Amino acid sequence: MAETAADSVISKEKDYAPASTSSTSEEKVVSEIDIQNLTIDDCNKFLDEDSNIKIITSGDTPYRSAFTFEELNLSPQLLKGLYVEMKYQKPSKIQAISLPLILDPPYLDLIAQAHNGSGKTACFTLGMLSRVDPKLKAPQALCCCPTRELAIQNSEVLRKMGKYTGITFECAIGGDFTTETHIKKRSPITAQVVIGTPGTIKRRMTEKTLGLSYLMMLVFDEADHMLAKEGFKDDSLNMMKHIGRVTSHCQVLLFSATFNESVKKFAAKIVKGNHNELFVKKEELSLESVIQYKVDCPDELAKVMVIKDQILEFGERIGQTIIFVRTRNSAIILHRSLVDLGYDVTTIQGALKQEDRDKIVKEFKDGLTQVLISTDLLARGFDQQQVNLVINYNLPVKYDHSTEPDCEVYLHRIGRAGRFGRKGAVFNLLCGDMDEMIMSKIETHFDMKIAKVPDWRNEEDFKAAMRSAGLL
Ligand SMILES: Nc1ncnc2c1ncn2[C@@H]1O[C@H](COP(=O)(O)OP(=O)(O)OP(=O)(O)O)[C@@H](O)[C@H]1O
Ligand SMILES: [Mg+2]
Repeated sequence: MAETAADSVISKEKDYAPASTSSTSEEKVVSEIDIQNLTIDDCNKFLDEDSNIKIITSGDTPYRSAFTFEELNLSPQLLKGLYVEMKYQKPSKIQAISLPLILDPPYLDLIAQAHNGSGKTACFTLGMLSRVDPKLKAPQALCCCPTRELAIQNSEVLRKMGKYTGITFECAIGGDFTTETHIKKRSPITAQVVIGTPGTIKRRMTEKTLGLSYLMMLVFDEADHMLAKEGFKDDSLNMMKHIGRVTSHCQVLLFSATFNESVKKFAAKIVKGNHNELFVKKEELSLESVIQYKVDCPDELAKVMVIKDQILEFGERIGQTIIFVRTRNSAIILHRSLVDLGYDVTTIQGALKQEDRDKIVKEFKDGLTQVLISTDLLARGFDQQQVNLVINYNLPVKYDHSTEPDCEVYLHRIGRAGRFGRKGAVFNLLCGDMDEMIMSKIETHFDMKIAKVPDWRNEEDFKAAMRSAGLL
């Protein structure tokens, strides 16, 4: 008999060591309550593929998991937002499991890991929209995101999902700094949900224009990055300290597709003792629907030629493409090379003016541009369903250690394709022994073998690769 998702969740738990080292881990029990509700509807193969989430619930709270949005007791206004505005039909697996954990008393903190593109945004957005009191005109939920692009994107999701709720929101991201410095005191935020980046949120907290007295939910999207030393750790801890001084009832939600072991331990320490956790093994994180390839290129020029002759030649047939580069400088150089060759590409990187960044993202999201070159600014969270192809022009390496791959960033980059179970392909362009070595470390880390495109000059090899990935 075929293994159901429920069987799979339970059986995979056996060989998966508990992740938490928090002092209360002995109180935790693996929840098998209602797990049969996770049974897969045959039409929705996506859930089947995303069946490896390990659930650790705290105490003996009888958590439920939902098969339909109605079962989640969402308000009629929110259901309308989901069906009419978002066109969702039923919850994804992470939504089905995490929403009851978020919405049921005693509103414990949650650390939740689930695959790229599996719908984590709706988990915390519905969480915020459900818990906020529409009658109380003050900030009640705060969502911190690592980039302005993600804060804008998440605000847009909240706007659509919450359209019929009347709940107000503000996107707290850096604006036009020249005007800002002239404003001595900004008016206090009255919006009920605030979504923003750490710098701006911290500033608003310090200048006391972001009141925390009624805050009951703090969300970190891309939480592992927000808590990592090389990420926004200090800012995030600072924010939590500020909040902790004012209220002791703030539910903390940490969402990401990746939590490495050290971040996992740290995250378990900073949430309150009694909390819930959902984790996925790193070997099971790669999306099966996204086929990865590597291409040996003799030199840098060959990489440009591969992009030009073997990939962009397919044009719009293969959907939209994101090309990831390591540095702002590589972004500029590659942009120039492709434009000189007659290709219409746009480029985004952190040194651009904010209004230009916003414009470039908007044009890509509106489908006005097809090929976007990006630094890791868009590696995490960026959601554009039409992106079928990701090219790693440079492999991602650790910030302070250029011979070590950044496996988390690799996973996030390739997760820009294949959103919500869609098909996708990734081409890793390798040049030299160092790239070979980094690629093989990535393969070992995720316990996978990446197929090689036999000849970088051969158009047929690329056609075959795209066909196997379902793009042609
Ligand atoms: N229940 C659902 N039904 C249909 N589509 C959905 C559902 N939930 C989410 N989606 C869509 O799936 C896509 C991916 O969702 P989302 O951006 O939340 O993924 P994610 O888990 O945050 O991924 P990442 O880790 O890459 O940030 C979005 O376009 C979203 O609208
Ligand atoms: Mg996301």
